[in-house]
Amino acid sequence: MDFFFDALIVGSGLAGLRAALEIPADYKVGLISKVFPTRSHSGAAQGGIGAALGNEEPDSWEWHMYDTVKGGDYLTDQDAAETLASDAPRAVYELEHMGVPFNRTAEGKIAQRAFGGHTRDFGEGPVKRACYAADRTGRVVLDTLYGKALEKKVHIFSEYYMLDLIFSQRKAVGAVVYELATGNVHAVWSKTILIATGGYGRVFKTNSNCFTNTGDGVYFCFRNGIPLEDMEFVQFHPTGIYPLGVLLSEAARGEGGVLINGLGTRFMPEYAPTLQDLAPRDVVSRAISTEIRAGRGINGGDYVHLDLTHLGASRIEEKLSDISSFARIYLGIDSTSQPIPVTPTCHYMMGGIPTDLNGRVVGLDGSVITGLYAAGESACVSVHGANRLGTNSLLDLVVFGRRAGKAISEDSKGLESPQPIEGSAVDVVEKIRRIKNSKGKKAAGIRAGMQQAMTDTCSVFRNKEDMEKGLDEIRRIKGDYQSVSIDNKGDKFNTDLLEAMELESLLGLAEVILVSALNRTESRGAHYREDYPERDDQNWLKHSLATSSPDGPAISFKPVKITRFEPKARKF
Ligand code: FUM
Repeated sequence: MDFFFDALIVGSGLAGLRAALEIPADYKVGLISKVFPTRSHSGAAQGGIGAALGNEEPDSWEWHMYDTVKGGDYLTDQDAAETLASDAPRAVYELEHMGVPFNRTAEGKIAQRAFGGHTRDFGEGPVKRACYAADRTGRVVLDTLYGKALEKKVHIFSEYYMLDLIFSQRKAVGAVVYELATGNVHAVWSKTILIATGGYGRVFKTNSNCFTNTGDGVYFCFRNGIPLEDMEFVQFHPTGIYPLGVLLSEAARGEGGVLINGLGTRFMPEYAPTLQDLAPRDVVSRAISTEIRAGRGINGGDYVHLDLTHLGASRIEEKLSDISSFARIYLGIDSTSQPIPVTPTCHYMMGGIPTDLNGRVVGLDGSVITGLYAAGESACVSVHGANRLGTNSLLDLVVFGRRAGKAISEDSKGLESPQPIEGSAVDVVEKIRRIKNSKGKKAAGIRAGMQQAMTDTCSVFRNKEDMEKGLDEIRRIKGDYQSVSIDNKGDKFNTDLLEAMELESLLGLAEVILVSALNRTESRGAHYREDYPERDDQNWLKHSLATSSPDGPAISFKPVKITRFEPKARKF
């Protein structure tokens, strides 16, 4: 079946929903979601959304901008950081007016807590900037925006998967989608398409991401000739529950929790004398991994402890109830009396589809791709540079999601409705047939091999030898994938088939991450090369762009936008 829209949004997390709300009511808006919308991964964001409201202590958006640039190890485009930080108070008050139930101060203002890398007075010490709803901030914002989208009568395709993007003469004109309930394949045509499909942390074995974070929108752009920016920058959150990787919010340290090694010592003051446990994530994850490598993990093992016991049961219950229940459910640990085992977990991708400040996708030649937009984790407006600060993700989603919605509204006026292109779904239908008939390796085994290879060779610490091994392995596994097979040959709710289809995106993106990481011979933010341990501004203060070529991803560069803050050595 064919569907027609003025604007098509792919992804029902906060970026997609916020964009949808910005588009005028007389536009026909379609929204495709792999899952029921409130199960989108934005709902897993815990600790808060950053905004210099100054409700608990003095703050300014310029400090927030500075922290975002410094936290990103100066790879952050500063026009984007300025947009993010200066618009943040408006964005948070807008959410408040929509009905988001934030925690409150004694005077009834939105409550704020400290978070990693957020400082007062340009780096002097931690500041309370994260606006929060206990430790389920993403959950309540997602529910609120979903309610608004329902009120707005956005046409939601729930449990439909995008399987390809359709272009005509360098214009994005549609998407091929798969209806999970029936197995039917449809074409959806639209004047404009927003990719808001989130991240792809599932390329790693230990990760905090939900099962749906497979980077489909990002990969479909790549395979259609759009470059991907800064793909080497992968964030490892310091406190994933050991050994599962499930997120334990940085809010735990914002509320006073501390990291302890196997000697019973608080080690973060050694690594970051000023911010200590609230240093940016790249610094804390490296510190934990260094302790573990030096044999100072708990009982010499590959984890350390997050200790909340001194916070007291009532504070934990009031402010950190979700994470304390995670510790209880997954490990049987009572966080009021026992420390929680934690280890770095793949959490967030700083790289993605390059966009301008209004979500318009930018091609290799620097010009905009007509009709195509991206926002949220799938995009790279480069507001997070080489390392994102906690709480800047939810903020990015609502600030840049809204801007993309505005751009779509504006641009759609001047665009014709696309004419359906005969045979657009042929490749997808053929691929489904091939997978169902194949007798090759099963998708689950191929995926496990990929995740192990990425975790072994391209994690918190990286070097040429390991990454070359990883790249060989991923290319070998891509060969196996050509004949991937599945057990379920049916049409209805065939998640086996979908997981096999998603694996193509994950494998493609794993290769792009490795090639980009091998190429960047310096250490910056989350990309730490043991063989090139220093930041090298002279040669590497630039964004990388990976473009598909017959020989694999080809790398080129574009400059970083520096407006207010000249790069300096980072000290925390
Ligand atoms: O630690 C956290 O609550 C995660 C927040 C974020 O990634 O922004």
